[in-house]
Amino acid sequence: RREPGAEPPDTTDLTALREAARECRGCGLYRDATDTVFGAGPREARIFALGEQPGDHEDRQGEPFVGPAGRLLDRALGDAGLDRDSLYLTNAVKHFKFKLRGKRRIHDKPARSEVVACRPWLLSELQAVGPRQILLLGATAAQSLYGTGFRLTQRRGEPLDPPEDFAGLFTSAVATVHPSAVLRAPERDTAYDAFVADLRVLG
Ligand code: URA
Repeated sequence: RREPGAEPPDTTDLTALREAARECRGCGLYRDATDTVFGAGPREARIFALGEQPGDHEDRQGEPFVGPAGRLLDRALGDAGLDRDSLYLTNAVKHFKFKLRGKRRIHDKPARSEVVACRPWLLSELQAVGPRQILLLGATAAQSLYGTGFRLTQRRGEPLDPPEDFAGLFTSAVATVHPSAVLRAPERDTAYDAFVADLRVLG
């Protein structure tokens, strides 16, 4: 049985969806997070970018991709000839999951059950925005749509057809690494250039 408030209301009004998502109890992550971080961007966006989950900065500010990973993403989008403000940006999981280390809140990877619990909200955003293309940032985002068998290392940077469950909701997707993986990469310039090359497949 689903928990109260775990199903999105039947609407394509992003403001109504965002408000309803604040009450979601579909998994336990709402307990420790500050607030739900819903997607942001124009509802007429042609590109829909999907990350993993909000980080510490996003959790405090209530907006997706406003921390270091978001800054790298903005720069890379610019270098690929895309404008962040024309994209709809959201996450596969809409609450920050973390472990406490002293006073610091350290990112903790969402469980598959949390990704699955959050999928109805992702579907509601896709129905509201009706994008042409999807940019999948990292394995969690890619597997949220394509299932756990999806191998990012093998499929990054190639146009993908929508999976059966999402048929008709978009035309094609491109998967790439998560921007925080670029920030952590030992060969950061090489990783950045490969990331921008994947973004160029969009558009
Ligand atoms: N990482 C994500 O996947 N999403 C954000 O919103 C921020 C960092």
